[in-house]
Amino acid sequence: MANISVFASGNGSNFQAIAEKIKDTRHCICSCICDQKDAYVLTRARDLSIPSYIIDYSKRKRKETEEEIISILEKQNIDIVCFAGFMRIITPFFINKYPKRIINIHPSLLPKYPGTRGIQESFESGDREIGITIHWVDEGVDTGEIILQKKCIRTSEDTLESAEMKIHHLEHTYYPEVIMQIVNKIDNRNKILQSWREN
Ligand code: GRF
Repeated sequence: MANISVFASGNGSNFQAIAEKIKDTRHCICSCICDQKDAYVLTRARDLSIPSYIIDYSKRKRKETEEEIISILEKQNIDIVCFAGFMRIITPFFINKYPKRIINIHPSLLPKYPGTRGIQESFESGDREIGITIHWVDEGVDTGEIILQKKCIRTSEDTLESAEMKIHHLEHTYYPEVIMQIVNKIDNRNKILQSWREN
């Protein structure tokens, strides 16, 4: 099995889609890490019986908050971290603890429209193709190596809300799928390591 931690700051619809996909597998979503005490994702986590941890970023150095998060992840033996609307920049200190073990979902076709307004900027651009990017997290803002992109068409009838719905539909379909593929690979690697240890 592989242990997953999902980081989120808001609504948590991606968190929920991931949790539903993982539910009946041998893998585990061990934690929801959240930086907002009133975020709806916390309600979702409670309803799904997934432990959540609220990390207080106020008046603290980022390294201190990251040390707190890392101590949670280490206790849970986390194999992979999935950002799902986590609105914090993480530092190289954290990234180096989980090299090629942190992924993110972004609601635009990167490298177009990085940052926090991906959907709105895609919509306002008038681009006919909009979409999502799933990528590894590196030290930049939405700059890591791309794992998967999926597109949909923005028609002249689309409003910001309908375009947003199309984007979320892609996210909820493909992000859990990509996570499953990655955790299956991690699981296989863990099994091989385990059998080496036993022999
Ligand atoms: C998603 O659009 C995701 O791509 C972006 O933040 C949003 C989170 O939505 N990074 P939700 O909290 O999962 O509903």
